[in-house]
Amino acid sequence: MNRVAVRAAARPCTLVVCRGCCCGNPRKHPGTDHAWQLDRLRAGADGSGGRFAVRTTDCLGPCDQANVIVVQPSTAGRRAGGRAVWIGFAMDDDCTDELLDWAAAGGPGIAEPPAALALQFVRPPRETRARVRR
Ligand code: FES
Repeated sequence: MNRVAVRAAARPCTLVVCRGCCCGNPRKHPGTDHAWQLDRLRAGADGSGGRFAVRTTDCLGPCDQANVIVVQPSTAGRRAGGRAVWIGFAMDDDCTDELLDWAAAGGPGIAEPPAALALQFVRPPRETRARVRR
C-alpha cells in the first residue's frame, strides 16, 4: 500500500471551520471570540491523539447561518454510514464544547451527536456539498 492509500485509510473525523467573509468575522458577529473558538478547536485536535483534526476553509455558502462548521466523518465513520454534517450558528462555548465532545467520540457514523448540537444541524447548499466532501 502506498503512502497516499495509508493516509486515506486512516483519515480522522475532521472539523472544517468556515472562516470566510462572515464566519469568524467580529465586525459581522460581535460578542463571540472567534479566534478563541478556533484556538479551542485546534487545541482539542492537538490533544486528541489523532482522533480528529481541524482545518479552516473559505466561505462555504450559507453566510446567514454563520459560524458554519462541517463535521466530516472519519474513514471508519463513513464506512459505518456517517456523512458530513453541517452545523450552523456555531457561536457559543456550549456549541464548541459539544463539537469537541462529538469529534473526540468519533463523530458521524461512530457516535451519536449531542442532542443540543443536533438542533443546530443545517442543510448545506447543494453546490458546496461536493467541495467539503473532499
Ligand atoms: S463565510 Fe462561512 S458560510 Fe460564508
